[in-house]
Formats: sequence, structure tokens, C-alpha cells
Amino acid sequence: MSAEPVVAIVVAAGSGVRLGGPLPKALRLIAGRAVVVHATHNLLAGGVDFVVVVVPSSHRPEFDAALSSAFPIRLWRTVSGGTERQVSVRLGLEAIDRDPVLAAGRVVLIHDAARPLVPPEVVTRVINEVRAGAVAVVPVVAVADTIRRLGDPTGHSTVLDRSTLRAVQTPQGFDRATITAAHAEAAADGVTLTDDAMACEHVGGQVSLVLGARESHKITEPADLAWAEALLAGRAGG
Ligand code: CTP
Ligand code: MG
Repeated sequence: MSAEPVVAIVVAAGSGVRLGGPLPKALRLIAGRAVVVHATHNLLAGGVDFVVVVVPSSHRPEFDAALSSAFPIRLWRTVSGGTERQVSVRLGLEAIDRDPVLAAGRVVLIHDAARPLVPPEVVTRVINEVRAGAVAVVPVVAVADTIRRLGDPTGHSTVLDRSTLRAVQTPQGFDRATITAAHAEAAADGVTLTDDAMACEHVGGQVSLVLGARESHKITEPADLAWAEALLAGRAGG
């Protein structure tokens, strides 16, 4: 590992209620490999040096087994998560803070295990933007659907100008000290966050956007898992 490691937190502590099934979503297989293994692989391929995987404590041995079958132990560790994504992220950040080797790095990425097929070039883009001085970096894509906003004062819905909208993805990249303090402050203030860049904004930090990718699509429902299988089968078939 370089003197200034790039560390990524992969939040994988959710149960995947909308996907269904007996296993946590991040342990489900795509093309024979666990969702969390795909996500970790793509982060490492994009320039991440070490991955902290936040897992449900009830399934930690299965996560350890899946990760150790794919990667050397010097590249990853697991920590137990919390009941909300926001809590899982904070526990990951605190684990980095307690480890002098990991805490030596300025760049930290936060990624949803549920986005297993993120292209490595998106990961690299995020890392480079933080290295260039950004405090918070968010990969985004244009919105494909026409979007209507409900609750117009007239009682009707209205179409939003799609050209001004962007869908937010992960990994999001941060200055480590800033995001660690921001998450601690959001928790102390009882603020609910829908993503991590919002935590930075809560403490006055500016968010930079970089181009994401359709392949970073989040696996939420069974059709998303089928989509991911089909994408990888298409790649294998050349
Ligand atoms: N996550 C987490 N800890 C939680 C809840 C979610 O680490 N307490 C993680 C999930 O594992 C996932 C990411 O946050 O990688 C995005 O959450 P989502 O897609 O909503 O996953 P789940 O919460 O597992 O799914 P569901 O909401 O359908 O139960
Ligand atoms: Mg959820």
C-alpha cells in the first residue's frame, strides 16, 4: 500500500427487503460471484488500495468467506454495520479513523455494494477529482425518463425540465477528515441523509460532479439482478 492509501467503504449491511430471498443482497450471486465481490473488485481495479466492507453482523462469517476467496486479506476487512445506511457509513468512517495506517490517507470513497458493476474508470474519475482538491465528489448521469413533480399548488402534476436533472450514483469521494466530521455532526444534529455528499453540504462543503455510468445502476428488485446477469453474460460472449 502506498504511503497515502485510497480507502473505500463498501456499505453492504442492508438486508435487501425489496429484492427478497433468504440472503442479504450483497451476498447474492451474479455470474457466480457475490455482489459484494463484484463491487470490491471494481473499486480495486479503479485505483482503491484498501476496502472496508460494512456488513450485517448476523452474516459476517459469510462475507469474510466470500471476500477471502476472492482477494488477499491485506486488501480488505469487514466491520459490522447499523440499522440505517447512514449509521453503517459512520461505523465505516470510525473504523478508518481508529486505524493509523488507513487514517494516513486523505481520499475516502463511499460505495453501495448494491452497485456491483460500477466501471473502474468511474472510480478513477472520482479519486482524481478528490486528489485535485475537491471536498466531495458525486458521479451522476442524465435522467432518461421524463419526471413529473406531484403536489403542484393547482393540484396538478408538472413536468420538470429534464435537462437540468441528474441521477446520483456511488462511489462518492471525499476529503476524509471533512466527511468523518460531517457524518458525526449529522448524527449529533439528528439530520437524515439520503446520500453522503449531503452530509458535506450540511457542514458547508461544496459538491463537485463527475460523469457516472449506466452500468453503476443499483440493484434493488429482482429485475435488476436479472439485468446484471444479462450484462455480464453479454460481456462473456464478446
Ligand atoms: N445499507 C447498509 N446498512 C443499512 C442499510 C443499507 O450498509 N442498514 C447498504 C446496503 O447494503 C446497500 C446500500 O446501503 O448496499 C444501499 O441501500 P439499499 O439499496 O436500500 O439496500 P438494502 O437496504 O439492503 O435494500 P432494501 O432497502 O430493499 O431493504
Ligand atoms: Mg434500503
